[in-house]
Amino acid sequence: MKLSKLLQRIVAHGIAADPRSKKEVEKALMKYKTRQKKLSKKEAELFDEERLWNPFADSRIYNKPDAEVKSVIVGIDVETPELLLVDRMNKEGKKIDAVMAHHPEARGLADLDKVMDMQIDLLAQHGVPENRADALMRPRMEKIWRAIHADNLFRSQQAAEFLDLPFFSCHTPADNLVYQFVEKKICKKKFDNLGEILNALLEIPEYKTYAKLGNPPILVNGSKSSRVGKLVATEFTGGTNGPEEYIEEQAKAGIGTILTMHVTEKSLEKAKEHHINFVQCSHIASDNIGLNLMLDKLTKDEPKLKVHEFSGFMRVKRK
Ligand SMILES: [Fe+2]
Ligand SMILES: [Fe+2]
Repeated sequence: MKLSKLLQRIVAHGIAADPRSKKEVEKALMKYKTRQKKLSKKEAELFDEERLWNPFADSRIYNKPDAEVKSVIVGIDVETPELLLVDRMNKEGKKIDAVMAHHPEARGLADLDKVMDMQIDLLAQHGVPENRADALMRPRMEKIWRAIHADNLFRSQQAAEFLDLPFFSCHTPADNLVYQFVEKKICKKKFDNLGEILNALLEIPEYKTYAKLGNPPILVNGSKSSRVGKLVATEFTGGTNGPEEYIEEQAKAGIGTILTMHVTEKSLEKAKEHHINFVQCSHIASDNIGLNLMLDKLTKDEPKLKVHEFSGFMRVKRK
């Protein structure tokens, strides 16, 4: 399969698992298309055609879209050292055709802020008024844009070009899958206390593996005997953490416990202030779940696709 086709499949699976409806995602793409028509000649030169069909600005190909892919190596973070490692593995006869990163690089990273507004839809589903979620999200998106803007963004893309390695990232489509998975496997169930949630998380192979390695799910606010209240997984997808004010908004909307991948110190302060429990599910283990679910789908589409693992990724197959 061509790498460009592989990305199309990833995007389709990501849309199917998106917290927004398919119609809402299509509407967002349509708006972008309409914007294209209104561009000046100068602006049109900088227009990103990719986003006319791919709603996940953090998931795209960085090198060799036309490459034929029979085997892919998957990692959480892929930069120059990992690309050199792949080159070395290939020199030793591994035959790795393409490198897939979870966390975005290059333009995928430059545009990370552009996937964040899906969090507004996600919170709306849990009772936070859209207007409030929107007003609080805008400055947070601008902050992320400014922070990443100063980075040296294209080092790994250039390294992939030098090494002639097909290279791409799959971020939000995989995070959408882990969000749906945790919603269904954990949030829909009834727990008497937070300790029971930790036990349920440890039943999931990725969390168990990481726990054995010393990186278990932890309670960041609340104790094992704390009552749960309304349980949500609102911080698993949508690029990166939303604004700290979202903690207060969720408290007002009646949420009691948030499952998350990473808690900032400011969010923790807010959680303490508003008595929100925080369960920090191991970040990289959570990313592993999303990638594993995506690879289950991709290998169902293409049973001959061979998957290698590195950089924090460990393959677990599900039926
Ligand atoms: Fe992730
Ligand atoms: Fe991540």
